[in-house]
Amino acid sequence: MTLPRLRRGDQLLFLGIMILMVTVIFLLFYALLWKAGNLTDLPNLRIGFYNFCLWNEGTGSLQCYQFPELEALGVPRVGLALARLGVYGALVLTLFVPLPLLLGWCNSNRGEWQLAVGFLAMSSMLLAGGLGLFLTCTWQWVRLSFQGPGFLALGIAQALLILLLMATAVFPQRAEKDKSKLESC
Ligand SMILES: *[C@@H]1O[C@H](CO)[C@@H](O)[C@H](O)[C@H]1NC(C)=O
Repeated sequence: MTLPRLRRGDQLLFLGIMILMVTVIFLLFYALLWKAGNLTDLPNLRIGFYNFCLWNEGTGSLQCYQFPELEALGVPRVGLALARLGVYGALVLTLFVPLPLLLGWCNSNRGEWQLAVGFLAMSSMLLAGGLGLFLTCTWQWVRLSFQGPGFLALGIAQALLILLLMATAVFPQRAEKDKSKLESC
């Protein structure tokens, strides 16, 4: 009587993990590719991984800066490059999570599952590192406003990645109790 219920619970948990994973990939795609890495999107301030535009009082318009000038403004070139590497690396790594997750679940294979958890952990660390570095480099402008769909998407993606990391780490212990995983795929 209790076994079928447990299996159904596991299936729902696995389904939830997969849905969250797809959501994370979608959020990262949205912020980094569709929005082209633009994080703050205000009429007088546009800051992103590839754009840096501040309000120019003199001309009364938005002025975008490129690298030699950006460094003069106090944004380190290496810092921004590493931040880009981190967040786009996180996007790439998340793409490698769903397949081993699915294989690990279908084959009851702990190794494949652990591989997925490893990709998840690396991707979470890269995103946190990249985002943290970006905020450190651009804090004096960004602190004025976090308004922007890009920021929101990356923030939610980071929170979900941590949640997924916890869920996938405790999942095998739960699933271990029930060995008939093959039936579930
Ligand atoms: C990103 O910001 C730049 C600079 O403001 C703008 O020219 C570009 O159109 C924006 N891209 C997207 C996809 O919003």
